[in-house]
Amino acid sequence: MTLLALCSASGAPGVTTTALALGWVWPLVHRERRVLVVDGDPAGSGVLPGYLHAGVVAGGGVLALAAERSRPGPDAFLDEALALDPAGSRMVLLGFTSTAQARTVTPVWEALADAARALDAAGVDVVVDAGRLGHRYEPTVLFQAADAVVAVLGSSLRAVTTTAAALRDLRASRGPGSRTTAVVVGERRPYSAREISSELGVAPLPAVAVDPWAAGALAEAGSTGWRFERSALLRSARDLAQNLRTAATTVPAAVGS
Ligand SMILES: Nc1ncnc2c1ncn2[C@@H]1O[C@H](COP(=O)(O)OP(=O)(O)OP(=O)(O)O)[C@@H](O)[C@H]1O
Ligand SMILES: [Mg+2]
Repeated sequence: MTLLALCSASGAPGVTTTALALGWVWPLVHRERRVLVVDGDPAGSGVLPGYLHAGVVAGGGVLALAAERSRPGPDAFLDEALALDPAGSRMVLLGFTSTAQARTVTPVWEALADAARALDAAGVDVVVDAGRLGHRYEPTVLFQAADAVVAVLGSSLRAVTTTAAALRDLRASRGPGSRTTAVVVGERRPYSAREISSELGVAPLPAVAVDPWAAGALAEAGSTGWRFERSALLRSARDLAQNLRTAATTVPAAVGS
């Protein structure tokens, strides 16, 4: 598995938080793999800098790649990413903070789609925070190239209804055999992840736990220590990371809906 594109259909269900949590646990769950978390939210999430204790070089990341004359190859993505640990097993490619900048980076997404196989061969899995589906500058090419598109949603009726419609559109554009799946943040509010996956016609995946403290630690305060590692959010992210790899490498049955 190589490229996962996380997105939402409506609201702010926790795409960025889930992408960051997956990035944190990925090398713990998949021992031989490294992970590159890419901030590809065209709305400019501005969340990833918090993950890095504000240790961010202005203008780096995706924007720096967009400014280069040549099309970035696999090495350029790794060179431009910030490593979160000495081994470089967790890396983050920063995005942008204004929608106006999103317009300029489409060639970078095309290059990332092309680089994904080589990154995979180099032992690097890519987790993209692609933001809200249907945004004017959404990274469509990454949805098309992804091994799995993962819609993140809450468990309300409204969330399920809007995500069902978005998944139908995604399947129509990517083809019925492509891997399109969904992850629930905070199940049983009121529907369970199992009920929701059945309604959406996707294989069930472990739900992400609601855990405001750990979510805040990921976004703002940095993320270390035993309380963080053992938090409900990180434990659920580990289950999800384990199952996502399987979900992304198993060819699904075509879903008619
Ligand atoms: N698992 C969680 N437990 C508790 N709080 C969470 C969780 N996931 C997200 N949140 C909180 O919900 C809010 C939105 O989260 P986040 O930014 O991850 O959503 P998003 O889907 O990326 O939103 P946007 O579309 O604005 O980018 C934040 O305050 C975040 O801390
Ligand atoms: Mg976000």
